[in-house]
Amino acid sequence: MSDGSKTEDDRMYGGAMHDDISEVLLDETTIAARVRELASDLATHLASTLPPDEPIVLVPVLTGSLVFTADLIRHLPNKMRIGVVTVSSYDGATTERRATALRGALPADLEGKHVVIVDDIFDTGHTMSLLDRELRHAGASGITSVVLLSKPARHEVDLRPDFSGFEIPDAFVVGYGLDYDGHYRNLPCIGILRPEAIK
Ligand code: IMP
Ligand code: MG
Repeated sequence: MSDGSKTEDDRMYGGAMHDDISEVLLDETTIAARVRELASDLATHLASTLPPDEPIVLVPVLTGSLVFTADLIRHLPNKMRIGVVTVSSYDGATTERRATALRGALPADLEGKHVVIVDDIFDTGHTMSLLDRELRHAGASGITSVVLLSKPARHEVDLRPDFSGFEIPDAFVVGYGLDYDGHYRNLPCIGILRPEAIK
């Protein structure tokens, strides 16, 4: 946690970008440690669920889960294929919601495969619900979901992620893959965006 005042870390967190953050919720070290734990928990779960050496299909939700996925998979021992999907929900705004819809195709050859969905944040949960439905429809034999963040105050569906890194308050956050209007994804920490930075 930090009050946003200037420290050595601030320079690392990227100057002007970091000035738009009112509070660092999760710093780089905290995120890295939790990602390792999530990978370990996920690997243990998969080992107890699937036949030995059964390959999985990892389905990262673009673009927000890109950084999380890159870190997570390097701690996973499983044999896997990766098939990205894009789901549109927010569109350049923090509150205006568009209908959640799949953009483009699902990965091929999902029939009989165990799918691991990876997303940056479980907010209302509509994105995860949509993917769960679509992937089962495409023949996935089982689905495990893992998200880095979850905002319990905003959940609107019965479904919950199987693995969640951090529960966070109902605030708009950016960094570590998460964006506002396409920006801030490359910030190494996760922080709350200042209202002034929101157009
Ligand atoms: P859901 O369908 O409401 O669960 O929304 C999930 C998607 O909304 C995530 O994959 C993010 O792309 C986006 N999202 C939700 N909350 C935030 C946030 O605080 N910052 C950035 N993106 C967010
Ligand atoms: Mg997303």
